Amino acid sequence: MADLKDPSVFLRVLSGERVDPPPIWIMRQAGRYLPEYRDLRSRAKSFLDFCYSPALATEAALQPLRRFPLDAAILFSDILVVPDALGQKVWFVEGEGPRLAPLIEQERWVFATAEKAIQRLSPVYEAVERLRGQIAKHIALIGFAGGPWTVATYMLQGRGGDKDKARRTAYQRAAEVDELLEALVEASAQHLAAQVKAGADCVQIFESWADGLSLPLFERLIVGPTAALVLRLRQLGVTAPIIGFPRGAGVHIGRYARGTGIDALGLDTHMPAEFARKEAGASTPLQGNLDPELVVAGGKLMEQGARHVVEAFAGGPHIFNLGHGITPEATPEHVADLVRIVKGAA
Ligand code: CP3
Repeated sequence: MADLKDPSVFLRVLSGERVDPPPIWIMRQAGRYLPEYRDLRSRAKSFLDFCYSPALATEAALQPLRRFPLDAAILFSDILVVPDALGQKVWFVEGEGPRLAPLIEQERWVFATAEKAIQRLSPVYEAVERLRGQIAKHIALIGFAGGPWTVATYMLQGRGGDKDKARRTAYQRAAEVDELLEALVEASAQHLAAQVKAGADCVQIFESWADGLSLPLFERLIVGPTAALVLRLRQLGVTAPIIGFPRGAGVHIGRYARGTGIDALGLDTHMPAEFARKEAGASTPLQGNLDPELVVAGGKLMEQGARHVVEAFAGGPHIFNLGHGITPEATPEHVADLVRIVKGAA
């Protein structure tokens, strides 16, 4: 738990305070751009085994903190452990990404209960507990889950990428898709509540596939289920702040910010700070949104980009981050430079 007398800078910003320079963490900060991650990863049979090993997951989450003075750690896991725990087979194809047995090819969709799923996910909570015990008090620990629609997309299609089939199914099998979203809301709420109980200071909802939706579908598939998830978390007694990251929400961003009950808004690369500030309200903490490609490029361009982000968000509470996950092609040296630039930018 955070020390209430000396809350981390990160948590202060999440509670609505403006801090200069802004705190920084990096989406996917543990990952393949780090040679020590690749080494650790080679010790597990599969990516899911890796996620379900508390020792390996804890070590992976600690690796970026040893190199960079980041303000937050994020649990090492994946958004697809929830469908796995609900009983849908999940595997990862090297160099391609996740695969699941697609629901759209099945007549009937049957899942384990949320309670059963949470039992299967106990190694994740053990990793959270270990992590909270091993990181300094002033560093916040972030728990996470996928947004219901994003996870449903993977479950329906069996893969990411083009989401046309998932959207089509949302119309053609509407009642079943709504039930699937309800099941995901309940399982994700219990999953996040268990992470907070184990020591996470805040949680982030990764809604990576919020793009390409008409307003009625955006309300039905994103705003409604996310609002239900936030409400359910509060019912379960979770008071920790909730960051929503609706990647690609675009002009719908204000509806997401105002309609879901989230406490802070994560912004993707294409979202202008000014537009988000106006849509979300001046007091909402905003997180983002440097182009991850600039951390591949490095040098002057990255420096200019980082300074631009710091200045663009200077009008209110801001957490520095990338606009999406760091890529395997980024270098640890560029990340070190980036953290230095942001920390020195006050
Ligand atoms: O450091 C961290 O941010 C914590 C760990 C984390 C992972 N995945 C580890 C991971 C987090 C927060 C995620 C979230 C996640 N997973 C999202 C939402 C964020 C986003 O990027 O949009 C999504 C859509 C997934 C699903 C997923 N998992 C994909 C699409 C992939 C393959 C892409 C790739 O980079 O290969 C994964 C695998 C994955 N999850 C890896 C890592 C480090 C790479 C796999 C490996 O090391 O073998």
